[in-house]
Amino acid sequence: MDNTKPENTKLENQVIIFLGAPGAGKGTQAARLATEHNLLQISTGDILRDHIARGTELGQRVEPIMKQGHLVPDDVLVSMIGEKLQTLEPVRVIFDGFPRTLAQAEALDQMLLQNGTPLNSVLLLEVPTEELIARIVNRGISSERSDDNETTARARQQVYHDLTQPVVEHYRKQGLVQALEGRGSTNEVYARILEAVQTPA
Ligand code: AP5
Ligand code: MG
Repeated sequence: MDNTKPENTKLENQVIIFLGAPGAGKGTQAARLATEHNLLQISTGDILRDHIARGTELGQRVEPIMKQGHLVPDDVLVSMIGEKLQTLEPVRVIFDGFPRTLAQAEALDQMLLQNGTPLNSVLLLEVPTEELIARIVNRGISSERSDDNETTARARQQVYHDLTQPVVEHYRKQGLVQALEGRGSTNEVYARILEAVQTPA
């Protein structure tokens, strides 16, 4: 038997959710974890931005919503994720930016239940608001994201507080949330994430 094969290459179902306010580092960390652990990063923000870039009907519909930092309607996201999950076998995903409302979280619970796929980890990256704003404004110097400016960054933080914080509580009640310090270098944050994934809540 080949004992040198790393644990993380086993193709078992695995679902990890990254939670955290805009700018917390979800995308940065999810991309690395996905690459190193043979998982698919599903970033709903990236998918929606791709629609905008391609000028699809959906892109045209969501562009003004994203520009203001508001959320795209739940039904759009839930069907997007539902269709994606149906194409995966095994289901090995990191959700980055989904679920973002209680309705989305409940819909995801149902989808995973129907699939017989367990939810392994919910990782919450915690960073103080002013650092989040600074990160987003800083990225806005070179990014082409229409929501990377101070006014929209603040609106996004408020939306997170009002609509996504209940998602944190939803998973906390299920005992799944691991809250991690999101400040420090990206390597330091990644080390915390690896440790958390290896010792689920
Ligand atoms: P989305 O694309 O999901 O954006 P977000 O999560 O709100 O914010 P970011 O992507 O900016 O933050 P992040 O946590 O991924 O951090 P990142 O790694 O990029 O959503 C955009 C919009 O799409 C929403 O407002 C909504 O309109 C719509 N949408 C998407 N999903 C939806 C859903 N499920 N339902 C409804 N609507 C939805 O890092 C941020 C910056 O910080 C980067 O410059 C990075 O280099 C830097 N950084 C990262 N880590 C560190 C560190 N440790 N130290 C210093 N800087 C760091
Ligand atoms: Mg992101």
